[in-house]
Amino acid sequence: MQVQIETSSIEKISADALAVIAFESGSDPKIAEQSGWLADLRSSGEFTGKLYETAVLYRPEGLAAKRLVVVGGGKKEKFSQVEARRLGGVLARALKSKGVRTAVLVLDEGDETLVSAVVEGAILGVWEADKYKTDPKKNEKHLDSLRIAVPGGDQQNLARAVEKGRIVAEAQNVSRDLVNEPPNRLTPATLAEAAEAMCAEVGLECELLDEGEMAKLGMGALLGVAQGSSNPPFLIVMKYQLAGTGVKDHLALVGKGVTFDTGGISIKPSEGMEKMKYDMAGAGAVIGAMRAIAQLKPAITVTGYVATVENMVSGNAQRPGDIVTSLSGKTIEVLNTDAEGRLILADAVTYANRHGATHIIDAATLTGAIGVALGHHNIGAFTNDQALFDRFLTSARTAGEKAWQLPMDEEYKDYLKSAFADLPNIGGRYGGSITAAWFIREFADPTPWVHLDIASTAWLDDAKAWMAKGPTGVAVRSFVQLALDWKP
Ligand code: BES
Ligand code: MN
Ligand code: ZN
Repeated sequence: MQVQIETSSIEKISADALAVIAFESGSDPKIAEQSGWLADLRSSGEFTGKLYETAVLYRPEGLAAKRLVVVGGGKKEKFSQVEARRLGGVLARALKSKGVRTAVLVLDEGDETLVSAVVEGAILGVWEADKYKTDPKKNEKHLDSLRIAVPGGDQQNLARAVEKGRIVAEAQNVSRDLVNEPPNRLTPATLAEAAEAMCAEVGLECELLDEGEMAKLGMGALLGVAQGSSNPPFLIVMKYQLAGTGVKDHLALVGKGVTFDTGGISIKPSEGMEKMKYDMAGAGAVIGAMRAIAQLKPAITVTGYVATVENMVSGNAQRPGDIVTSLSGKTIEVLNTDAEGRLILADAVTYANRHGATHIIDAATLTGAIGVALGHHNIGAFTNDQALFDRFLTSARTAGEKAWQLPMDEEYKDYLKSAFADLPNIGGRYGGSITAAWFIREFADPTPWVHLDIASTAWLDDAKAWMAKGPTGVAVRSFVQLALDWKP
């Protein structure tokens, strides 16, 4: 979908649809001033201005456009970039379903944040997980172009805002495309190829560590998980390097890339196991974010690390009771082969630390327990450094993503006790997301670190009015915004 700023006068725009936002109360959109159509619509009861409600008028008087679409903005005083993003999605999905190909959204007021958000929402909204549907009808309805008109706004700044929104949302869709790939098609090797191709496209340096190189380095924790699969593992390193400035900070983004998680010998129940293709959503988030970072060029060095493996069952699979030596030198007793994400992250985080990371943020579909604690609306977030966490949260809010901090008191660390190794890979029955976070922290300390458990936010079981069912691409926007907001 093309997105652009529209500067011609509203009456003359000949698009398939012109769209405006009308709120529950307060001033009506300027277009409504000319005739009584909005008042008629309201008195009919068909449209009240409720958030995300839509109504369509055909051949509107005095306008060249074929249709006029009115979208409810809810309570005007509550309308922020969060609502604007979803409204963009609702509008784009509604237009697409009507077979509209070209549309112009007219905003009477709109700063750059709002414009970026609407554009993001629209690009995210039209995405569908239909790549493998062969029905030719699926391509019949396609929104080709959305233009945004803000009469009276600074057109240059607005154009920049549209560009930013486009870049960020397309990166998030890149992440969703990867997560949507079925596990027979997306293996660690093909994920590594996809990351390499992305880097080549946007001019990032990309390095792949293969099994042999990781063995030489001593990444026993990652390799232990990988050994049950005939698809070999990779560590993907994507580098955005800031040349010639005084900025010394080096942000590492680390993603869990388990292309399929059977649980290993501690095998998962078969019901719902097909969803474990999304166990690489953290990797998807890092790859998507690196793409947008390469294009938006924030003032900080950022390296993306993706540890990618397949957690399978076989004669070579790791067993409960195995003791592995991690890259850090710490030994780990594998009490449950299904707690594999933290094992691969341990080595990836150690590797990031050894390559100069001054700040680390990881994203991982790490625990089912995070959904029990927080439901589907907040990322579970953990840290060893409150200052970094607060900066992260500010950026996440700006990006319209929600995260909720969970505690990391020292007491929880005591849940991780092994009789035979330095630490076990699971704690007890309680606080499962917290012990998982503590496990990773053992490898991140003392570098300031934030851990994002996205197991319950990376996948939508049912479509929303603004977004398709399937992968959400969560964490991409927060990552990108954090890099853009970075102050040394
Ligand atoms: N990939 C899963 C976590 C997960 C569960 C992601 C549901 C998305 C949806 C992870 O590897 C896992 O299996 N975790 C275990 C940990 C347990 C063995 C301590 C879990 O959550 O059950
Ligand atoms: Mn698992
Ligand atoms: Zn997993």
